[in-house]
Amino acid sequence: MAVQRPLAAIVLAAGEGTRMRSATPKVLHPLAGRPMLAHLVDALVALPIERVLLVVGHRAEQVTAAMQDALDTAIPVDFVEQRVQRGTGDATAVALGAFPEDDGLDEDDVLVLVGDVPLLRPETVAALVAHHRATDAAATLLTTHLDDPTGYGRIVRDGRGGVARIVEQADATDEERAITEINPAIYCFRRSLLAPALRRLTPANAQGEYYLTDVVAVLRDAGHTVGAVAVEDPFECMGVNDRAQLARAEAALRDRINDAWMRAGVTMVDPRTTYIDASVVLEADVRILPNTLLEGATTIASGAVLGPDVRLVDTEVGSGATVSHTVARSAAIGAGCAVGPFVSLRAGTRLAAGAHVGTFVETKNAEIGEGAKVPHLAYVGDATVGPRANVGAGTITANYDGRAKHRTEIGADARIGSNTVLRAPVRIGDGAYTGAGSVVTRDVPPGALAKGVPAEIDEGWADRLDEGN
Ligand code: UD1
Ligand code: MG
Repeated sequence: MAVQRPLAAIVLAAGEGTRMRSATPKVLHPLAGRPMLAHLVDALVALPIERVLLVVGHRAEQVTAAMQDALDTAIPVDFVEQRVQRGTGDATAVALGAFPEDDGLDEDDVLVLVGDVPLLRPETVAALVAHHRATDAAATLLTTHLDDPTGYGRIVRDGRGGVARIVEQADATDEERAITEINPAIYCFRRSLLAPALRRLTPANAQGEYYLTDVVAVLRDAGHTVGAVAVEDPFECMGVNDRAQLARAEAALRDRINDAWMRAGVTMVDPRTTYIDASVVLEADVRILPNTLLEGATTIASGAVLGPDVRLVDTEVGSGATVSHTVARSAAIGAGCAVGPFVSLRAGTRLAAGAHVGTFVETKNAEIGEGAKVPHLAYVGDATVGPRANVGAGTITANYDGRAKHRTEIGADARIGSNTVLRAPVRIGDGAYTGAGSVVTRDVPPGALAKGVPAEIDEGWADRLDEGN
């Protein structure tokens, strides 16, 4: 009969991660746009768990701040500092010190995990905990088989197939190094038995560290049961220690994210060249063409077609919009818009429904009205373009006078002629026209024509034009 005991998790993340050769602490290196440590904590807080304790040390402040920023969970996540990195056993002991001595809960279970296994799934941790409780073991660990076990601790089995001990790569004999069953460093312990076992560790090994892995032999020697649960998908247990492993983890995570979206009704013509951050949200019937990167808080509504060659960061795309060969950042693309090819939508761009932004156009802090068109070769910055207006090829909103930025306002149904320079601040009235090549330095009333350099203004132009027709 499985025993239900409270569960907590300790995640070891105090190491520098020297093999990354990076100024950034290893556990903060992003995978699918999220620090690798945050992926692991996501998997833990998906379980019925009381608290998560992160052991920080190397650049503790930076890691703490980044994690507080990345995590958004109702489950308490606390930080404890391991000042000197004496090994995973020492780090675990430091964390146990953060549990109240006599909280009456020392019969609870505690998960201990290394911080560099970002692909671990909650289902796998749940299976570990369930097995641990069902067998009433002192400790239970995950194991898996790898074709190339180099670098991992190896699982040494006893004559009856039980886990006898774990030997680190650096300490292993040639015979032990040939073992392909490895220690992913994901364990579940009875908390009351862990603390005394940790006190028995010594740093008498190749790395001069207190190894958490030695707890297995200590518990066994004391007559306790140590169990193991085999993990089918070895990728899940992959430890990320260097940049090559980081790239492999990224690829595995990308496959997982893409598979989930395809199952949710998203078409990907080529999932291998589709890169979607963990934070992105897609609706069913989105269609993604090759070389598309969706990052940050990007959301895509049903029926949108993205790609090829699209990078969207923190961008919202409305239903049925098409976006090709485009880079967009902090932009909103309305329903039914057509964007691209070769477009740069910079921060603060908002395209209302049905707007068209075409070839070689850059926008920034710009509101483009419903059905308005900026079809080719234009810069529209700090500007409002009214509904149904047309901005001709080569138009520039000259928003910067060398000291400050100014706005350009283009009214509804206005027609901006090719190669117009709009010297901001300036307003073009509803239905007004500008002549090809004009340099507009003054406001243009509704329905007027502005032409020349600097443009002279001919009032009532549009009405006379209509009468003439
Ligand atoms: C560890 C295991 C190894 C296992 C592998 C799985 C030990 C001794 N070895 O080796 O059996 O196969 O993980 O990926 O446990 N850390 C601290 N404080 C320290 C030292 C490390 O918090 O004093 C943290 C690191 O930040 C890291 C984790 O513990 O997140 C593991 O450390 P790492 O150096 O990556 O251990 P491995 O050599 O990978
Ligand atoms: Mg490691």
